[in-house]
Amino acid sequence: MSKFQAPKGVSEYFPPNSNQFEYVRDQLLRTARLAGYNLIELPVFEDTEVFTRGVGESTDVVSKEMYTFEDRGGRSITLRPEGTAGVMRAVIEHNLDRGQLPVKLFYTGPFFRAERPQAGRYRQFYQVGIEAIGYTDPEIDVEVIAVADSAFKALGLTKYKLNITSLGDTESRQAHRKDLMKYIAGLDLDEATSARAQINPLRLFDDKRAEIKELMAKAPLLLDYLNKDSVQHFEAVKNILNDIGIKYQVNPYMVRGLDYYTGTTFEFDHEMLGAQSGIGGGGRYDGLMNSLGGSDVSGIGFGLGVDRILMACQAEGSLPDNLNQIELFIAPISHPAKALAFKLLTQLRIAGISCDMAFGDRALKGAMKAADKSGAKYGLVIGDDEINSGMGQLKLMSSGEIISSSLTPSELIKRLGKNN
Ligand code: HAM
Repeated sequence: MSKFQAPKGVSEYFPPNSNQFEYVRDQLLRTARLAGYNLIELPVFEDTEVFTRGVGESTDVVSKEMYTFEDRGGRSITLRPEGTAGVMRAVIEHNLDRGQLPVKLFYTGPFFRAERPQAGRYRQFYQVGIEAIGYTDPEIDVEVIAVADSAFKALGLTKYKLNITSLGDTESRQAHRKDLMKYIAGLDLDEATSARAQINPLRLFDDKRAEIKELMAKAPLLLDYLNKDSVQHFEAVKNILNDIGIKYQVNPYMVRGLDYYTGTTFEFDHEMLGAQSGIGGGGRYDGLMNSLGGSDVSGIGFGLGVDRILMACQAEGSLPDNLNQIELFIAPISHPAKALAFKLLTQLRIAGISCDMAFGDRALKGAMKAADKSGAKYGLVIGDDEINSGMGQLKLMSSGEIISSSLTPSELIKRLGKNN
């Protein structure tokens, strides 16, 4: 065993798996870009209060899972457990909401939660997220859901389901909260659970204990308390989803793990992932900007779990073969041939052709083995004869077929350039 190991519960990617990870993340980002979202790149740590205020004290994320420490200046700093609160901090700080609305942003990177590690649940994991800020129409809710859905489709996923519900506006939530608190007061709960319920009674719907689940099965549901505006908004969201052919299931018991949600909320579950089946989720957060000291601007977004989506793609076998396959591998079989190979390599790369070569002093056999291992589409052998004649033998690696035995560098660039 090596002396050092990665910290417990982190996800790590190295070749060849990292090529799949990169592909998945890039497809997710591409779909966001296609819908007019622009990159926001933010620090992975923030003032702790951004999360305690933004995400909410009743959540597991804030109360149990944050990596919080004091920096050298005595400030309380937290590694970001999620992206939305930090994005809102930046939107407020840089007045991004003062221009044209909606502001449409995407981000990707590592997130940190001190959870109990298990398959698909990590302490450092990766998300691709989008946030659409400053627009309350139901169309934007559906746009956000549709971006996630088309990203999954672009990755060839089919075995996933979309759950949606609505948490309504403030008036609806207050009406529900009153009755829910009454209901909860009649239950025999332990102190910690009661305390959690005081901060956010909806949390109890998300409790994993069988006895609490049973008690909550008869509790009043928020969906039954939506006022006229909230019903109208939710109905419109469902109608537009129907119109554009996105299937969903209304799940009134769904509770998101973060406290900032209002109105439409949603989660995508993949059926082949076992306990950690959530591949992405999100929703509206109309009071979040205000609670972080900004103007009263609404927003909606999602976070997609790249690690779990990769697992889902692997389970469905939906990823293309030969990801990041290089076009050409050059096998020089003598010292002078090596110098020529390296020069050629540089020319090819400048011409935008992906290529690599065998380093070290290898005989033909060793060099060809390296070419095989590289997974390149073509192999080019350069020996002393080839130096004299000007060029080497180009081989299709999959079949061993010799494509040409006398290509000059510019012919080679032309030929391989066509394949790109
Ligand atoms: P979330 O549901 O907490 O939402 O996380 C989004 C996704 O991140 C989850 O569906 C899951 O795929 C992945 N994820 C979360 N925790 C872990 C973990 N420990 N290990 C592996 N994957 C994980 C948010 O974070 C919100 N900020 C989403 C959002 C954006 N809502 C509005 N805008």
